[in-house]
Amino acid sequence: MIKIDSLDHYGRGIAKLNGKIVFVENAMPLEIVDIKVLKDKKNYIEASVLKYIEKSKERVDIVCPYYDECGGCNIMHMGYTNQLKFKEDKIKNIVSKYLDDDIKINNIVKCDKNFNYRNKVTFQVKKDLGFFKNDTYDIVCVNKCVISDEIINNSIKYLKELDLKHINKITCKVGNSKLMVVINSSDSDIDITPILNIASSIYLKFNNTYKHLYGDKYIYEDIGKYRFAISPDSFFQVNINTTTKLYNKIKEYVKTGKNVLDLYCGTGTIGIFVSDENNVLGIEINESAVKDALYNKKINKLSNIDFICGDSTKACLKASFKPDIVIVDPPRNGLNSEGINNIIKLNPKEIIYVSCDPMTMVRDLKELKKHYNIEEITPFDMFPNTYHVECLTYLKRM
Ligand SMILES: C[S@@+](CC[C@H](N)C(=O)[O-])C[C@H]1O[C@@H](n2cnc3c(N)ncnc32)[C@H](O)[C@@H]1O
Repeated sequence: MIKIDSLDHYGRGIAKLNGKIVFVENAMPLEIVDIKVLKDKKNYIEASVLKYIEKSKERVDIVCPYYDECGGCNIMHMGYTNQLKFKEDKIKNIVSKYLDDDIKINNIVKCDKNFNYRNKVTFQVKKDLGFFKNDTYDIVCVNKCVISDEIINNSIKYLKELDLKHINKITCKVGNSKLMVVINSSDSDIDITPILNIASSIYLKFNNTYKHLYGDKYIYEDIGKYRFAISPDSFFQVNINTTTKLYNKIKEYVKTGKNVLDLYCGTGTIGIFVSDENNVLGIEINESAVKDALYNKKINKLSNIDFICGDSTKACLKASFKPDIVIVDPPRNGLNSEGINNIIKLNPKEIIYVSCDPMTMVRDLKELKKHYNIEEITPFDMFPNTYHVECLTYLKRM
């Protein structure tokens, strides 16, 4: 029997047992629990709860039937208010431990829709369809996912009617209430009849190439006054409610009359969103995302924005203008030292750093801080019910 003291960065309860630190899944501060040891390492133990002896008053009923097994969500049991506090505290702790004590951190921007928010889901397929169990490649079969868009949930029974024998994964994307289905299969011959009535667009991913099988080539999502195309293989933010708030905050920083470099630009969404009365160049490594970005430029009838395909790390030096503002939105691994040095060489007045991993963000900010003041960091709840946090940092040249 152990008593939980606090939470780690993954939302697990922390306790002590015989001098060793114990990380307990699905356990909250002040709870007293019997544990089942999952991993007994030299310096720590990972455990799950066998029995709750005393439950926290803050704990909420779980609305997901797969929560204990599925590796997708991990902090649903805290309730939404506590989730927000956990994420805000997590960012404050990471920033003060690895960066600086007196950086301004704003309150977390909440998501107005903490269930049914995900517009993209990848189902793993092994005989049936579901998600990976915690830390394994075993699958927990599902009939719904409470954080996914209802259109995706309603599609599951039809997806299960496909001949799943050769299918490895199925990705569903939703935009403006339309469904795109991407079937990842080791057989190029797929009977898609069961999903013809529910999908607006169907692709086959076979041998690492995408083949359009049915319906529209793109689906679309509207953010603010702009329309963005969603394609089978380009990155698109998964939570439109929080993304809108994030992009609006970026727009407040950019204002007008600026040369803006949008690095790691994906399908050009941020650059397009701030392109009113600004010159924008977006740089992206994925060729197909650049094609989508140019298509987004066209459908939004824009002329003051362009895109190039390349590694942002190096290609940022190729801009035909001297940037006033550099926006970066890298994947989880963040920037690298060459990228940081090149941004510093470009000497923009302002940098806007969008991050989905606070650890790599603080590592990079530590370097940028030698030349830039960190004005403020704002956490955004892009991924409710999971421990992940998106952060927006605004920096000004010293
Ligand atoms: C987190 S996404 C951001 C996309 C976009 N800013 C948005 O909000 O939709 C990161 C993007 O960086 C791209 N990327 C990864 N490494 C890159 C690199 N070295 N240079 C340029 N783009 C890169 C990925 O293909 C992906 O589209």
